[in-house]
Amino acid sequence: MYALVYISKANQPFEPSTLHALADQANRRNRLLSITGFLTYKKGQFLQYLEGKEKAVDNLMNTIQNDPRHTVVKIINLPDQPQRYLSEWHMRYLSVSDLGAVSLDDLLVDTLNKLDTDIYSKEKVLEILRRILVRFSRYFEDKPTSFFPPL
Ligand SMILES: Cc1cc2nc3c(=O)[nH]c(=O)nc-3n(C[C@H](O)[C@H](O)[C@H](O)COP(=O)(O)O)c2cc1C
Repeated sequence: MYALVYISKANQPFEPSTLHALADQANRRNRLLSITGFLTYKKGQFLQYLEGKEKAVDNLMNTIQNDPRHTVVKIINLPDQPQRYLSEWHMRYLSVSDLGAVSLDDLLVDTLNKLDTDIYSKEKVLEILRRILVRFSRYFEDKPTSFFPPL
């Protein structure tokens, strides 16, 4: 399974309703591409995780990168992983309170800083991302119906 994570800076204000609409559209499109992942937004910064077939993910990343609503700052391609972490989430928007529910505010800020500054090795960043994904999947395990109802 191929996966990547990127961070970007918003070029316009994003209200919760705009974010939900964006994630809703992404969810529908990603379902058709067998891509799963999540999107978070905090203080004008996006962090998105995408997993799926390499070609599908790279093509989507190209589209996303050309979207004028944000500017991609950094993309990290993750090493091949044995499985999908998020089999049910074609694109789940995680609000700050969702992140808080799994005590991930701290980890996310940490990760963004590390991605931004290059102080930490890629391995360290990947390790943190794995921790985030594992915590997400455990926490939401008993809440399998994603925010978006199936089509
Ligand atoms: C932060 C961010 C994340 C996005 N994530 C996705 C996504 O996961 N899947 C998707 O299809 N579009 C996503 N989009 C929207 C795409 O950039 C693009 O607008 C959409 O695919 C429509 O493309 P089109 O106008 O070429 O049809 C995202 C946009 C932003 C700003």
